[in-house]
Amino acid sequence: MQIGIIGSGAMGSGIAQLAATASHNTLIFDNNPSALHRSAEKTSKGLEIQVQKGKMTKAEAERILGNILYISNMAALSNCDMLIEAIVEDIDVKRQLFRELEMMVSDNCIMGTNTSSLSITSIAAACKNASRVIGIHFFNPAILMPLVEIIPGIQTNLETIEKSIATISSWGKTIVKAKDTPGFIVNRVARPYYGEAIKIFEEGLADVATIDWVLKEKGGFKMGPFELTDFIGHDVNYAVTESVWSAMYFDPRFRPSISQKRLVEADFLGRKSGKGFYDYADGATKPDPVKDDDLATEIFERILAMLINEAADVLYMNIASAEDLEKAMTKGVNYPKGILEWANEFGIEKTVNILDGLYNKYHDMRYRVCPLLRDMNTNKRHFLLDFF
Ligand code: NAI
Repeated sequence: MQIGIIGSGAMGSGIAQLAATASHNTLIFDNNPSALHRSAEKTSKGLEIQVQKGKMTKAEAERILGNILYISNMAALSNCDMLIEAIVEDIDVKRQLFRELEMMVSDNCIMGTNTSSLSITSIAAACKNASRVIGIHFFNPAILMPLVEIIPGIQTNLETIEKSIATISSWGKTIVKAKDTPGFIVNRVARPYYGEAIKIFEEGLADVATIDWVLKEKGGFKMGPFELTDFIGHDVNYAVTESVWSAMYFDPRFRPSISQKRLVEADFLGRKSGKGFYDYADGATKPDPVKDDDLATEIFERILAMLINEAADVLYMNIASAEDLEKAMTKGVNYPKGILEWANEFGIEKTVNILDGLYNKYHDMRYRVCPLLRDMNTNKRHFLLDFF
């Protein structure tokens, strides 16, 4: 099976390496020759390091590299059986690319997109045969993160879904299926982790170091929200937040934060620019958190309640199954446990009470309780018993 990757940036390079590792004849195209060159260098360097560390044989690294062909002429993709597009996150540019690609490939070729936030249905609609277009959403870094979200557009046919799942599973990935809705599963459910944390900071309830400490200490998260957004890059994280918010018709649950916007405007993009919520200059030190247990509990419970509410809404709106929801958050963003399992432990009643308390305080629809959660509380139901 021949795989074509379009876009040789961070994601495209990783996906190409995965396909090549799985013995596919893999072609990778980019309209910027220097990006293609960088990708080739990065992949071979990455494999060389694996060999040096003794994690891979030289022969295996050579086999993988031998399966990847870097192409500067898009027409060379014509014999591919599956394409995965990973170019710039711009709906017009993606639609135009899909229009052009469709004319080159055979009728049986599956056309996947790695978009994180755009509508699969809209990208598919640019094609004459929209039924073979599908969302195949990897996580960064694609080589390491086990999760892939498969997102059929409303036009996608069953054959495309089944073939995509079979192919990507054979690369060793964990597959979850999501409805074509803004943010799919992970980028939707994770929004309050950033958004509510920034709101708490903006209100002056605690500083960034304290909030980060709380989420790691009380929640067992590997990185706090400010460390994580500094790591992801505020340009990227803010763009996804704004895209999900506008695609959700400006639902206040997804409202972006002015302080993050200001960081983007100032070019304080996080680690990559040397400054974000924290300062990464040589010699800069991280502020100490305020380790107050009552404050920590208040912050942690508020953010967890928001995460549970969002996860409940994904179930309520039939965006994903309970099993897939749990897999998505543990394998796509390394959450310490599935949110539904967490909800059972934490308590549905407690979650509803926290959200109602916040709603009464702010009168902001951001804190409205998901109807599923409210019903579950009324009827004393439990996620594990009722949904698995
Ligand atoms: P990137 O900026 O690292 O790479 C994009 C590449 O696409 C560049 O090399 C650029 O030259 C090339 N390109 C742009 N327009 C093109 C065109 N018309 N034809 C051919 N090549 C073109 O971006 P990255 O981070 O790899 O993201 C790519 C896609 O993957 C986006 O849709 C993004 O939303 C999605 N994604 C990104 C993740 C991330 O954490 N970076 C995670 C999951 C999905």
